[in-house]
Amino acid sequence: MTVIDTEVSPVADLETPLKFAYWVPNVSGGLVVSTIEQRTSWDFDYNKKLARIAEDAGFEYALSQTRYAASYGADKQHEATSFTLGLLGATERLKIIAAVHPGMWHPGVLAKWLITADHISNGRAAVNIVSGWLKDEFVKFGLPWLEHDERYVRTEEFISILRGLLTEDGYSFDGKHYQISDFTLSPKPLDVPGRAHPEIFFGGNSTAAQAAAGRTADWYFSNGRSLEGFQENIAGVVAAAESGGRTAPQKPRFGINGFVIARDTENEAVETLREIIAKAHRPAVEGFAAAVKEAGQSTKDGKGMWEDSTFEDLVQYNDGFRTGLIGTPEQIAERIIAFKKIGVNLVLTAYLHFQEEVEAFGRDVLPIVRELEADLARANGTELNTELLPQVAAPAAV
Ligand SMILES: Cc1cc2nc3c(=O)[nH]c(=O)nc-3n(C[C@H](O)[C@H](O)[C@H](O)COP(=O)(O)O)c2cc1C
Repeated sequence: MTVIDTEVSPVADLETPLKFAYWVPNVSGGLVVSTIEQRTSWDFDYNKKLARIAEDAGFEYALSQTRYAASYGADKQHEATSFTLGLLGATERLKIIAAVHPGMWHPGVLAKWLITADHISNGRAAVNIVSGWLKDEFVKFGLPWLEHDERYVRTEEFISILRGLLTEDGYSFDGKHYQISDFTLSPKPLDVPGRAHPEIFFGGNSTAAQAAAGRTADWYFSNGRSLEGFQENIAGVVAAAESGGRTAPQKPRFGINGFVIARDTENEAVETLREIIAKAHRPAVEGFAAAVKEAGQSTKDGKGMWEDSTFEDLVQYNDGFRTGLIGTPEQIAERIIAFKKIGVNLVLTAYLHFQEEVEAFGRDVLPIVRELEADLARANGTELNTELLPQVAAPAAV
């Protein structure tokens, strides 16, 4: 096995093993808007079993989705924070990230929820702060719908307050969107080595999103991107972090979304992608394409999520095909290493048939990734810290 010959970015962390997450399918319809068979389900029992499979397979995180109204064929949705809590109760090692919209929550209420979830789960709860794009959800709830960049002004204040309330006593904040005076939350989160407080993720692609995440978030998540595209996002986030004076260990880390189609041959994988797109649910994808104009396309510089997504891209509503995790296990592992070399720390994955493919990913792709990561570290004069690898279940005896 050889390590792909692309340059290693100064942002890349070659000692720390990559982390893997999967999208919690807590909304109906699967992760592609297509009538192709998807052996998955949005119900809790399916998800409980999936979470247990994932933690045994070597996944460290699961990310829930927050959705209140039907869109892109997701006609039914389970609420993200309660679903997260249920999954935390059903697992032992997996960290579960609850997606939350600032426009729907008060940061103090979320901080309180997060601390309780952290205690219940022995330090495994996290949040993904998302600024939203589905205008109807807000307007029909009678909530203000802020213009694009203003949503990120609010999000940045929201995260500052969240962190302040998680870590300080007598916390005050006087901002444009929130005022907090002399507030102390008790108890505080658990004292877990390696983190200052439960982790705060941030999802967004636009220039405003990169700036806000760089200044405040622990983790920056982007939609599916090419290597070159994600290099641009990383540069934007790093510049904002530096301008905000953030240095290690407060520097943000990077997660990329990708839809995985791992098959025995490249041809089979490509054929599956072709079938997904050929069977796309056209009206749902077109409706989604119209709604997401509230995201990237509505920004001043026109940069951001879904800014140039084609019909084919939008069949996976998080642009997951663009990341290129489609092929044999070896090809996918090599592609993942290429992302590690530009600075990716975490790969967020989705599948057609979640339970079986998460298990297969752990069995077929992860061992190759670990081998390549070790090679990459050695080739650059360092070692992969294998003590940081997640515990995986021993294969069943035959
Ligand atoms: C990993 C990830 C997860 C996201 N999860 C959600 C979600 O659960 N609900 C939601 O409304 N938006 C979600 N978003 C979208 C963001 O809310 C935001 O609308 C989108 O990133 C807009 O991008 P922009 O900053 O490029 O305009 C997510 C984005 C990313 C990258």
